[in-house]
Amino acid sequence: MERKKITITDLQAKKRDGKKITMLTAYDYPMAKLVDNAEIDSILVGDSLGMVVLGYESTVPVTMDEMIHHAKAVRRGTKYALLIGDMPFMSYQVSNEDAIRNASRFMKEAGCDAVKLEGGSEVVGVTKAIVNAGIPVLGHLGLTPQTVSKLGGYKIQGKSAEAARKILDDARLLEKAGCFAIVLECVPDKVAKLITERISIPTISCGAGPYCDGQVLVTNDMVGLFDRFVPKFVKQYVKLAPLILEAFKKYKSEVETGSFPAAEHTFAINEEEFSKLMKD
Ligand code: KIV
Repeated sequence: MERKKITITDLQAKKRDGKKITMLTAYDYPMAKLVDNAEIDSILVGDSLGMVVLGYESTVPVTMDEMIHHAKAVRRGTKYALLIGDMPFMSYQVSNEDAIRNASRFMKEAGCDAVKLEGGSEVVGVTKAIVNAGIPVLGHLGLTPQTVSKLGGYKIQGKSAEAARKILDDARLLEKAGCFAIVLECVPDKVAKLITERISIPTISCGAGPYCDGQVLVTNDMVGLFDRFVPKFVKQYVKLAPLILEAFKKYKSEVETGSFPAAEHTFAINEEEFSKLMKD
């Protein structure tokens, strides 16, 4: 069957049909191409960029310009997946006008199909403004890394009935505000299940268990390219870092001993031309 570009309608149809939605992050051209070739439904250019690629301590310092730079590279490697740009901290909090301008940069400069922003009741107004401007919005509830200091650290959210009720209420508000789907990060599985049953738009789990309509992971975590920590909810499908380190060590040793480059990695000049050169 001919492969078609994934749309928001396709993701919503998956929820209706009981089929799981797949999402991974990407931050550059080669990784985007691999994710797209694996037929993952959606690629998120997450602001996790700040930690797993740029080496910041948190996602807070990430700027719009950094996000756009990476989103453009991801766009060039993505043909079919729905491409979502993550609005960084303070790109949507100052005013609705500022938020629309920043969201529109993801669409116009980086060719994204949608944007994501973190938060519940406090972002309902700005979510509506961006949606009304014609830009699809993915919500993000539970553990919201941009406000991790307010949450008291990278902790499970919604463990008490009251906290879980607030996430459910926020999910309903975001649905009403026009979000096309919501990421639930680090929420107990039963709470995520309840939310998934109570709203009509898809829920995407990031450490929220198996009952959501889809799953998202930070690619660099699941392929073992980020070594500072591995969250409990991440499954590492491959550990690339030790393989790459081994290759670098082998290269160093071969250069130092002269076994690289070999004849097959070397260009030759025609003997006749070379003897002319020697005569000069
Ligand atoms: O920034 C990111 O990669 C995210 C996902 C973990 C959902 O927000």
